[in-house]
Amino acid sequence: MARTLTFEIFRYNPAIPEQKPQMQCFTLAETANMTLFIALNRLREEQDPSLVFDFCCRAGICGSCGMVVNGRPRLACQTKTADLPERIILLPLPVFKLVGDLSVDTGVWFRDMYQKTRSWIHTKKAFDSDQEEERMDNAVAEQIYELERCVECGCCIAACGTARMRDDFLGAASLNRIARFALDPRDERTDQDYFEIIGNDYGIFGCMGLLACEDVCPKHLPLQNQLGFLRRKMGITALKQLFRKSSCAS
Ligand code: SF4
Ligand code: SF4
Ligand code: FES
Repeated sequence: MARTLTFEIFRYNPAIPEQKPQMQCFTLAETANMTLFIALNRLREEQDPSLVFDFCCRAGICGSCGMVVNGRPRLACQTKTADLPERIILLPLPVFKLVGDLSVDTGVWFRDMYQKTRSWIHTKKAFDSDQEEERMDNAVAEQIYELERCVECGCCIAACGTARMRDDFLGAASLNRIARFALDPRDERTDQDYFEIIGNDYGIFGCMGLLACEDVCPKHLPLQNQLGFLRRKMGITALKQLFRKSSCAS
């Protein structure tokens, strides 16, 4: 028998601060293969046109539909209601700026973080458009591609205890970007250069290592491996610095 789903949805419009945040209840008959994308669109079309949420691709690619579903950050377009209980509680992702109801601005956060991590290829080579593309070892290209699959949904940041406590923490998605450039033979930055960006409490040493980030990543990025890789790399760089300082002092 078809279930009747109860949705409890966070409602708040920051543009009208005199209205208090509240949870609003809706009910909806479940249909076959219903996703949260379908359910939310039906609620907006049939019950409340003022409901705010984000969707674009409906295919787990654009990363815009992240929200907290029964306590866990997920992509709504990739979440089937059949996998959820009848009572579904929807909240916006924490950490990011609230646009309204379930919509948050992940774009500003990611742009800021990528500027802080200087997330682009650093090279002194002059660009020559007449040159052939540089060849790259297939195995390295595949490793880089694996990390490039991040869709910037923000789920790993929303699930991260450190990011929830400290708004200067770079978070798993940003550290994953650093790992991606550290692998790239075209990037001429040294370990010391990376240390200056992430060898601190708001970088790799602020990470508590409990791996909620990897648990919730809808693209199944190997975040645990990347955090471990950076922790080792930055730990060795810190030790080298200590040795350098102590040999200068003696
Ligand atoms: S392992 Fe680190 S980055 Fe991942 S959720 Fe925990 S504190 Fe955040
Ligand atoms: S690492 Fe995964 S959870 Fe984090 S932003 Fe990228 S795709 Fe989303
Ligand atoms: S709508 Fe694009 S990832 Fe969900």
